[in-house]
Amino acid sequence: MLILERKFETDFAFNIWYKRKIMDIKDKLREKQLPVHVAIIMDGNGRWAKQKGNMRIFGHKNGVKAVREVVEAAGEIGIKYLTLYAFSTENWTRPKSEVDALMTLLVTTINTEVDELIKNNVRLKQIGDLKSLPDSVQKKLQEAILRTSHCKGLTLVLALSYSGRSEITNAVAQMVTDAKSGKIAAEDISESLVSSYLYTSEIPDPDLLIRTSGEYRISNFLLWQLAYSEMYFTGTLWPDFRKKDLFEAVLDYQQRERRFGKTGDQISS
Ligand code: FPP
Repeated sequence: MLILERKFETDFAFNIWYKRKIMDIKDKLREKQLPVHVAIIMDGNGRWAKQKGNMRIFGHKNGVKAVREVVEAAGEIGIKYLTLYAFSTENWTRPKSEVDALMTLLVTTINTEVDELIKNNVRLKQIGDLKSLPDSVQKKLQEAILRTSHCKGLTLVLALSYSGRSEITNAVAQMVTDAKSGKIAAEDISESLVSSYLYTSEIPDPDLLIRTSGEYRISNFLLWQLAYSEMYFTGTLWPDFRKKDLFEAVLDYQQRERRFGKTGDQISS
């Protein structure tokens, strides 16, 4: 009983500290300088599970809690687009048991979360090779995308079976097809035309990219779109990532000077 009481007291104290901490960071955020689009490479699920002596899927399951938190947090401060790298084309080479478990987890997560997304005005989108996903995942995703299509708050983009290089390769192939059929001419080719051939044609480029787990690479994610994004790397493993971590990343982003090739003086004047 005494142990339980102590645990309750420490949990209670922690919750109060945590809520205060979140409020402190939120107070510091400047509404006018919020990133419009935040993209996240959610990394470290496997290591998180291993540290706890568990199977990798345990890490992915706990990663869903972090997904829930960041979606809520992003909506709360008014971020318009949140893209999560949930499964890369290269992830298909993982052991079949892990791939199958991840696909099942996706279906169950969409099932349990879609009503909550609608309630919170979140519109769901997917980027990547939809057709390579199992039928059950395709079906659930399409249903959820349709059911949330009227939502006008946060747009949550799931990168699933996604590869930046193949996205660009497919865009080039489609442009060549369209050029052959006379739909576009060589002189029409511009950066904005290329952008319009990508999965993200209706989504602005990310302002901020976050990668968890202490790895410093972009792993074939949004190669074209990240040209001028600010990068934020944290050692936190994805299942431990919480609201506070997202707000800290946004606060850090707000201290940056985005120059887009100009000089600092040009920007400040
Ligand atoms: C990377 O960690 C994570 C993944 C490949 C899967 C991410 C999936 C989730 C967070 C759960 C489902 C997501 C949604 C959107 C419902 P890793 O496995 O590479 O970890 P490691 O580098 O420690 O091995």
